[in-house]
Order: sequence, then C-alpha cells, then structure tokens
Amino acid sequence: MEEIKTIMQQNWNKNASRYDAQYQHGLHSEEEKAAWLRLLGSLIPEKGQMILDVGAGTGFLSLLLAEQGHWIKAVDLSPGMLEKAEEKAQDAGLIDKITFAIGDAENLAEPDSMYDVVVNRHLLWAMPDPDRAITEWRRVLKPGGKLILIDGDWHYNSLKNNVKIFCGKFLTLVSERKNMFRKYRSETAGRLPMTKPENAKKAPDMVRKAGFRVTVRGAEEIEAAEKRAMPLRARLLNPYHRIIIIGIKE
Ligand SMILES: C[S@@+](CC[C@H](N)C(=O)[O-])C[C@H]1O[C@@H](n2cnc3c(N)ncnc32)[C@H](O)[C@@H]1O
Repeated sequence: MEEIKTIMQQNWNKNASRYDAQYQHGLHSEEEKAAWLRLLGSLIPEKGQMILDVGAGTGFLSLLLAEQGHWIKAVDLSPGMLEKAEEKAQDAGLIDKITFAIGDAENLAEPDSMYDVVVNRHLLWAMPDPDRAITEWRRVLKPGGKLILIDGDWHYNSLKNNVKIFCGKFLTLVSERKNMFRKYRSETAGRLPMTKPENAKKAPDMVRKAGFRVTVRGAEEIEAAEKRAMPLRARLLNPYHRIIIIGIKE
C-alpha cells in the first residue's frame, strides 16, 4: 500500500473511538438525524437500491441508508472505523442489510456497473489522487447510476470562516485553558491535493469531467439542526457549509 495510505489508515484507526462524538461527524440530536433522513430520502427516492458507501468510516451514511431499506456495501481503509460501524449496525438491528469490507477508495475490489448509487461523505479531501477516485466510483456505477458526494467548504480557507475559528480558539483558551493555536506539522500536508483551496473549489468540475451530469446543492436544514446541538464554542470552531455534489453517470 502507498505510504500515505498507511499513514491515513493508522490515523483513522486511532480516531475511531472519538469520531462519533465530534460535531459535524456523529449525530448529536434527533432533529439532526431526522434532517439527514429527509435529505437522503430526497436524494435517493427509489426503493431498495444497491448502494456502495466508500470511506464509510463508522457507518454514518450506511446506517441511515440501511434504515431506509437499501442494501449497502460499506468499504473503508481503516479496520478500526469499520469495527465501530459493524458494532453500531448490530445494535441497530441493521447488520443483515450491510456488508463490510476493508478496501481502498481509489482501487475498489468491486465489479464494473454493479451499483445503483455510490455515496461518500467527507472523503474526497483524503484522496491522494482524487481524479482516479472519481473515475473508480464511476466504473462501479450502473449506466445512469448516481454518485452522491457529501462534503463541506472545510478547505476553502474563507476569511469569514477563519475569523470564526480564531474566535472559537480564543474562547477555548480563555474558558478551558486549552491552546488550540498551537501549530502542528501534519504528516499528510501537501500530499492530499483537495486540501488546497484552489483544488477543493474545483470538485464539481472534476466530477463533470469524469463523465457525470452534475448538480450541486447545500444542506441548510442539516446545518441548522447541527448548529442548534452545538455550544457557542463549537459553533465558532465549525463554521463550515455543506456541499453536496450529485452526479448521474452519462
Ligand atoms: C472523515 S472520515 C468519514 C467517514 C464517513 N464517511 C462519515 O461520513 O462519517 C474519512 C474516512 O475515510 C477513510 N479513508 C481515507 N482514505 C481512504 C481510502 N483511500 N479508501 C477508503 N477509505 C479511506 C478513513 O479511514 C475514514 O474512515
């Protein structure tokens, strides 16, 4: 496996037990869950679809989609994240609807034209070769199948977001004596192209160029529900807007 992927795998294994407690990752209220179910129901109105959740992590999308009656294959590089997903599926009585597999999003062990829908959430930024990843997701979709990419403007580096994050860090320092200003050198810096603002903004065009008919939308209802579940400090530290790219395989 490429070195960057080994690093990613180790980092996500370490993060697995904390992931669901993080804002904008796990669910923090019934209102948030209801908003996600409504969004997914509108994006995938068809019943009983065969869905591939790439970079499924602790199963956020997989569980919601299985609850809606779809058949899911959940693939992720990190066994630690997938173990959590499996536990949650077991607890929710959804284990029969989801198959789990360790795998690489850029090189899937799936046959061509297999799935009605390919979904992923918060994954594109983590791809060392995002064009290859999108091409791979297209390969496993049936003709006319749907790619749903759920992301955010985390890497757009906007002034408004930066000011809010600065205020959030300052509030954390004053109220909790925790220094979030400390700079750390990420092992992955520079190796993930979609973490650069100029590339992050091109994601819809990249999907279009890969051979999809593309629409882009936000997720205002979810954002509002998420914000209502956050204390002020977390609202400042998470000022991001969600971006949903929907591609129909042409
Ligand atoms: C931010 S988490 C998102 C998890 C989940 N999709 C969600 O919405 O909560 C990113 C996930 O992508 C996985 N990942 C990173 N690189 C990957 C790759 N090359 N192939 C498959 N999964 C990968 C990580 O292990 C991690 O579980």
